[in-house]
Amino acid sequence: MPKDSLTVTDNRTGKQYELPIENGAVRGMDLRQIKVSDDDFGLMSYDPAFMNTASCKSSITFIDGDKGILRYRGYPIEQLAEKATYLETAYLLRHGELPTKPQLEDWKKNITLHTFVHENVKKFMDGFHYDAHPMGMFTSTMAALSTFYPDAKNIFDAESRQLQIYRLIGKVTTIAAFAYRHSIGLPYTHPEDDLTYAGNFLKMLFKRSEAHYKPNPVLEKALDVLFILHADHEQNCSTNAMRSVGSSHVDPYSALAAASAALYGPLHGGANEAVLRMLKEIGSKDKIPAFIKEVKEGKGDKRLMGFGHRVYKNYDPRAKIIKKLADDVFEVTGRNPLLDIALELEKIALEDDYFVKRKLYPNVDFYSGLIYQAMKFPVDMFPVLFAIGRTSGWVAQWEEMLLDGEQKIARPRQLYLGHAQRQYVPLVRR
Ligand code: SDX
Repeated sequence: MPKDSLTVTDNRTGKQYELPIENGAVRGMDLRQIKVSDDDFGLMSYDPAFMNTASCKSSITFIDGDKGILRYRGYPIEQLAEKATYLETAYLLRHGELPTKPQLEDWKKNITLHTFVHENVKKFMDGFHYDAHPMGMFTSTMAALSTFYPDAKNIFDAESRQLQIYRLIGKVTTIAAFAYRHSIGLPYTHPEDDLTYAGNFLKMLFKRSEAHYKPNPVLEKALDVLFILHADHEQNCSTNAMRSVGSSHVDPYSALAAASAALYGPLHGGANEAVLRMLKEIGSKDKIPAFIKEVKEGKGDKRLMGFGHRVYKNYDPRAKIIKKLADDVFEVTGRNPLLDIALELEKIALEDDYFVKRKLYPNVDFYSGLIYQAMKFPVDMFPVLFAIGRTSGWVAQWEEMLLDGEQKIARPRQLYLGHAQRQYVPLVRR
């Protein structure tokens, strides 16, 4: 019976070592015993950007990049997008099981109860420049929230964690809406308890002088599905930030601000904004071949934004769902003309050896921006919309990290290649 272990020979010493294999991995720390002498520190693994390193054990999200599979707590994303609501999905991510009706009602009630923010948050947000990027406003305001809730530091008190999670999922929509209203010079509008999570968000964004804002049900449903699709994605860059910063035992608002900052990057959650700017830059279908040529020549590190993924080496299942969702939205909003460029770009890229060889397929960001734009969101709000959905994943992953007995403060090692010791040279002699 083959043993779950790796036998390695250190050719420097001829010694053999047996490394146990558990869950398809060897422990990095098991390498430390491999030394050339007693005072040798021992072997480390070197893995820039963690291309092949598991930082944790998790039961929340499963991705099979080759097969294009995504499941939250075992449920296929396609089923959740079709049958669940976002708050139901947020409950599933955090608690590990789909809620019963009473559990879901209680979860919704508590989150709705915490959609209001302290009035001082408005003063804080008013301080931003008139054209401040909403994602910069969102990220900083999430960090500022930690000063409003000092009780959030009790991270090992289950009740306190529960309260912060209600507050975070509840308030991210309000803060996102305030950032948008600030950017267009409109007064902030308050949450309305009898609307759904997505409906309330639409109301806080788009209500004008009408007495009672009624969200369009098709757009409300589309946004709720988009929040589900963005809810979690195992150890992506921003979730890694949430876990890593959270491992210092800082409060969850500060950790979530770090996660939001990571998501802001154009290689991550900022890609949906970059896709729209790219489609506008291309301008028309006949300009696509020239653009693809520039990408392939790597001019100025130009990339086909919305394409490629560290894990998916197949079509991102979320992109498939979003592409279908676009038809429902465009029924209401009118077809986004950029869609034709996106469809042609996808067709050409998927037949081009450069992309096929590198297994570059559309990811979640390739089509999402087209829907957001059709729903009248400005392009710079796109990463904020991503952050709202991902908040439920971030808090679920944060809590799983805190409760994992194997986790401690994240502090990677390095391979030092700098100078050996040398003596200080006085200025007069330099
Ligand atoms: C998200 O991790 C997650 O799960 C993220 C996410 C989530 O839900 O949290 O799924 C959300 O961030 C989706 C990705 C959004 N980003 C983009 O769409 C930006 C464009 N895509 C890339 O920059 C890139 O594909 C990444 C960042 C997504 C993945 O980068 P990797 O895995 O580090 O791949 P790489 O940069 O090493 O590229 C491998 C090769 C390189 O070419 P060679 O050096 O082999 O010649 O593929 C090329 C890259 O130049 N390449 C691209 C490309 N992506 C990779 N070339 C052109 N266009 C692209 N988009």
